Amino acid sequence: FHVDWDLMTAEKAGFDHFMLKEIHEQPKAYRDTMRGRVSEDGKSVSLSELTTITPEELRKFNRVHIVACGTAMHAGMVGKTIIEQLARVPVETDVASEYRYRSPIITPETLVIVVSQSGETADTLAALREAKRNGARVLAITNVVGSSVAREADDVIITLAGPEIAVASTKAYTSQLIAFYLFGLHYAQVLDTKDEAFVSGVLAAMDSLPEQVEKILSQAEVIKKIAESISRHSNLFFIGRGLDYAVALEGSLKLKEISYIHSEAYAAGELKHGTLALIEEGIPVISLITQEDLQEKTLSNIKEVKARGADVFAIVNDGNEEEISKSVDSVFSIPRTLSLLTPALSVVPLQLLSYYASLALGHDVDKPRNLAKSVTVE
Ligand code: G6P
Repeated sequence: FHVDWDLMTAEKAGFDHFMLKEIHEQPKAYRDTMRGRVSEDGKSVSLSELTTITPEELRKFNRVHIVACGTAMHAGMVGKTIIEQLARVPVETDVASEYRYRSPIITPETLVIVVSQSGETADTLAALREAKRNGARVLAITNVVGSSVAREADDVIITLAGPEIAVASTKAYTSQLIAFYLFGLHYAQVLDTKDEAFVSGVLAAMDSLPEQVEKILSQAEVIKKIAESISRHSNLFFIGRGLDYAVALEGSLKLKEISYIHSEAYAAGELKHGTLALIEEGIPVISLITQEDLQEKTLSNIKEVKARGADVFAIVNDGNEEEISKSVDSVFSIPRTLSLLTPALSVVPLQLLSYYASLALGHDVDKPRNLAKSVTVE
């Protein structure tokens, strides 16, 4: 892959901030990351960049480790579910700064996937080296061709998000999700865990994601109002189950990074084991309810926080607004897709939420205090 990062793309192109521009570039990033990796007939994935990690190699692995930091780790948590559901291979996730020190069981039958927007994060690079020292194969998902991570990994899937300037990662995260979907489908094809009809169904749904993101972006004003009310609080919670929990973690991190509002993301069912003690009158709870098989369970957790006075804002699937509004204070609906793909949509309103909250508070959206875009120290 050849990637053009000219100066023009590094400008704000009429947006007030790089972050907002990058949020709006996601439909293009999705298309670019998929382009050339799906067969003409839309029935299969072909990752020609996997030259070392061939189908024979893939068949040999008995476990996958996903290692990354920050937002890339949150993409990795979605990646775990994708790979486990599609290829039925067990996956562990670790933050890179912990991985080496827990003496992980790494063998030549382990595939280690490192995820890094910059490809230069010191902890991630150290984890990659540790994996290689132990004989594992390393696949990198990165946005920067020629980065240290890209150079040292056995194979690389480049995300084609284009340069990401804002410290808070948006389009790099969602492009990492696209890379995981493609890799998961490829892995499933190789292991024959999913048939052609299934794979082409997922690919068709992925094709619609860019337009669906556009639709969410066109409703930014709705999110802006919620963000302004949230910005008056100093504590809030994000809850969700399954993939909604992984996205809740990312939504919470985004808000902390640029609005400096304290928030915690909780697996909805775990709240009652302690954190519920912190719920008091008026506290905002942002609930993700896109995984319909878990909806009833999440709604019962919402009842628990509502009973303690929480103000619940829910992200739901189109068509469920009416039903869910009976149990919450406000809803925002996202277009329908396969439940496995919802993170690629549900994170977008959360990115906008943190953007507008930061704006309302007058913070430097693109360059938050204390943070760096790329962290090259351990
Ligand atoms: C820094 C950035 C985060 C990013 C993390 C990992 O902390 O501020 O936004 O998620 O590093 O960066 P990477 O380039 O490895 O994805």
